[in-house]
Amino acid sequence: MSRQTETDDESLITTEVQATDNTTTARSTETVVSSEDLSVYYGDDRALDDVSLDIERNRITALIGPSGCGKSTYLRCINRMNDQIDSCRIEGDLFFRGKNIYDDNVDPVALRRTIGMVFQEPNPFPKSIYDNVAYGLRIQGRADQIDLDAEVERALRGAALWDEVKDQLQSSGLDLSGGQQQRLCIARAIAPDPEVVLMDEPASALDPVATSKIEDLIEELAEEYTVVIVTHNMQQAARISDKTAVFLTGGELVEVDDTQKIFENPDDDRVEDYITGKFG
Ligand SMILES: Nc1ncnc2c1ncn2[C@@H]1O[C@H](COP(=O)(O)OP(=O)(O)OP(=O)(O)O)[C@@H](O)[C@H]1O
Ligand SMILES: [Mg+2]
Repeated sequence: MSRQTETDDESLITTEVQATDNTTTARSTETVVSSEDLSVYYGDDRALDDVSLDIERNRITALIGPSGCGKSTYLRCINRMNDQIDSCRIEGDLFFRGKNIYDDNVDPVALRRTIGMVFQEPNPFPKSIYDNVAYGLRIQGRADQIDLDAEVERALRGAALWDEVKDQLQSSGLDLSGGQQQRLCIARAIAPDPEVVLMDEPASALDPVATSKIEDLIEELAEEYTVVIVTHNMQQAARISDKTAVFLTGGELVEVDDTQKIFENPDDDRVEDYITGKFG
């Protein structure tokens, strides 16, 4: 198991972000995030039921399933966003590169820079385009040591937005179109050079043209990052993901496999029913 050997605990405990290991080939099958019997409760209500799932490096993993089956809950566990929900309680283990991310000495703020997140509704800060992208680098305390302009440009290029905004970096992020705002949020998430990017229905608020841009972008991001995406759009999951994990009502992970297998020949009849629209 690679996660036993590759751990660098310091990356999560201190505010330093773990640098991406460029020596690993893009298509290797190293597990980056792994849950073991993860159950999540809101008060007495169970949202996830003993979920064990390995997420591989530089792959796009799609989480699909009917509304309320726990997809967002699972995603939020990965970077401890659920910490902010008082009623939320977690059982089981969740590892990032072999380190249990719920250990007391893990700093959630450092974790969230290493495991970034993009939400359903684009949510730029009410700041300039430049300041949105520079935000993570500044709070990391690295702004003085790096060429901030170059890093902002790199992130905006990575989010396929640079050409559209390079002459208006000081205008407000809120003045962009919805699709541009979502790419700005992706730029903000990738600026601190995370290892994993979590996306919760990132294109569901966008029109087809903007959606297609985001989909192309996600495929490009996977060359550098590990992407976990929640989507209700079956075609989108089939088009862009390498692996698909199917959750069903009750927070059960019923099947995870190569996306092609899930969509063409799933083992579980309930998965076939869900994918073909018989329920959910
Ligand atoms: N903050 C919360 N407080 C209490 N219960 C919650 C909270 N967030 C989610 N839940 C409950 O946990 C369960 C799983 O919710 P979650 O949002 O993870 O589902 P989902 O699969 O993302 O659904 P959708 O596809 O509609 O976004 C649901 O029953 C939901 O009502
Ligand atoms: Mg959700």
